[in-house]
Amino acid sequence: MNQDAMKQQVAAAALQQIPDDIVLGVGTGSTVNALIKLMCEQRKRLTACVSSSEASSALLRAGGYEVLDLNTAGDLSLYVDGADECDPNRCLIKGGGGALTREKIIAAASKRFICIIDASKQVPVLGTFPLPVEVIPMARSYVARELLKLGGEPMWRENFTTDNGNQILDLGRLQIHDPMALEDTINSIAGVVTVGLFAHRAADQVLVASADGVVEL
Ligand code: A5P
Repeated sequence: MNQDAMKQQVAAAALQQIPDDIVLGVGTGSTVNALIKLMCEQRKRLTACVSSSEASSALLRAGGYEVLDLNTAGDLSLYVDGADECDPNRCLIKGGGGALTREKIIAAASKRFICIIDASKQVPVLGTFPLPVEVIPMARSYVARELLKLGGEPMWRENFTTDNGNQILDLGRLQIHDPMALEDTINSIAGVVTVGLFAHRAADQVLVASADGVVEL
């Protein structure tokens, strides 16, 4: 089974877990796009959505869903999103699509966070996927020098601006054995908006698609 088919499968499994008539937190990326497509096709009944990116908001609106600002919606009962890597403790690397800050805010404001991935995203130790760090533009070089001291290799994601008007450094060559500590360390560098490590607020549930079907981690 190819990766696209696995994304479809895990999106379908997630859809079954979404109650009707809630305000749903919706993430960003190709796996979530598969979920949005299914929601539209099956006319999933929702009160509204809160989305982690302009791209997801546009798809949701095109499908007829109301997209609320989080300030209006308040806390959410459920957030569904993908990830770039997931470790056995459900800690995640996110932000490959650059939406990490809004994703982290929505995850924090949600009672339950279901992460949907295919088996290629499962790793024993996080860090093979370069860790995205959103930075205030004027702080980019300074933050990159600080990240170098941590032993990683920061790369500027050129020609990319986040929905918040910021820039991204992708931090490669890491083996993240203590994700909570690294999340704290990077978040405390001046100029960092968010690091794409979801350790303090890990996923509550991870649905994994493989050739054998969808299982819960
Ligand atoms: C978006 O910024 C990311 O956090 C995505 O959730 C992550 O990159 C997963 O994307 P795919 O579903 O496209 O792999």
